[in-house]
Amino acid sequence: MTASSSFASQSSEHHMNIITVPTSTEAVEKAATIVADEIRSHAAPVLGLATGRTMESLYALLVARYRKGALDFSSMTSFNLDEYVGIAASAPQSYHTYMHEHLFDQVNMQAGHGHVPDGMAADLDAECAAYEDRIRASGGINLQLLGIGETGHIGFNEPPSAFDTRTRPVVLDPITRQQNAGMFGNNPDAVPERALTMGVGTILDAKRLLLLAVGGGKAAIIRKALLDPMTPDISASAIRLHKDCTIIMDDAAAAEWKRAA
Ligand code: GLP
Repeated sequence: MTASSSFASQSSEHHMNIITVPTSTEAVEKAATIVADEIRSHAAPVLGLATGRTMESLYALLVARYRKGALDFSSMTSFNLDEYVGIAASAPQSYHTYMHEHLFDQVNMQAGHGHVPDGMAADLDAECAAYEDRIRASGGINLQLLGIGETGHIGFNEPPSAFDTRTRPVVLDPITRQQNAGMFGNNPDAVPERALTMGVGTILDAKRLLLLAVGGGKAAIIRKALLDPMTPDISASAIRLHKDCTIIMDDAAAAEWKRAA
C-alpha cells in the first residue's frame, strides 16, 4: 500500500490531478503505470517523451514490463521534447543517444518511430516546422511526459517562453547549462548554448500531460509553477491551462507546495 494523496483543482474547465507519494520509487512506479495504461489503450499510441535523470528510472520500469511480456511497443510512435543544437545524434550527450540507450533499443519499437528533433539540421527553423508537421501527421500526442528544470522549464522552454510558442530553436539558460553539466564533464561551458524544443503551445496540444518531479531540488520551482501567477517566466506554470493534466511528485518535491497550498 502506498500512502498517496490526490488533489483535484476546483475549476470545471481545467482538471489538474496532483498525486503525492512518500518516495521517488513510488512516484516513478505510478508514472510508469499511467504510461503503460496509455500505451495499452490505443491501437497506435503516440507518446511525447522527455529526457533527464528523472525519466531514466521511468524508462527502466517500462523496459522491465516489456521484458515480462506485459507491454508492447510495436505500434507506438514517439516524439521527444527537445535536443541540443550542434551535438551529433551519435554523441554520448545527445538526447538521441539517451533515448536509444534507455528505451528505443531496449523494446520492440519500430525503427524510425521514435522521433527526436535534429539539432544538427542545416536549417534549424525548417527542422522545427517539419517536426510540428510530423506530430500533426501522427494524429497528435496522446500523452506527453514532462519533467521540470530548475528554471521552471518544460522541454527547453526557458524563461520567457510564451504559452503559444511552437517547436523552435532556443538559447539555454545558464542555470540549465549548469544543471545539465553532468553529461559534459561537469563543465557548464561545454553544454551547448542552444537547443531545439517543442513549444509551450505544442505541449499544450497533447491530449494528456503527465509531469513527474522527484527530490527536494524541485520543491521551490514546483511551488512557483503550481501556485504563483501563471507566467512565461516559468513555462511549467502553463500546464495549469490544460484540461487533463496529472502531476506526480514524491514528498520531497511536493514539500513547499504542500506547505503553501
Ligand atoms: C532537461 C530536459 C527537460 C527535463 C529536465 C529535467 O533539461 N530538457 O525536459 O525536464 O532535463 O532534468 P532532471 O530529470 O535531470 O532533473
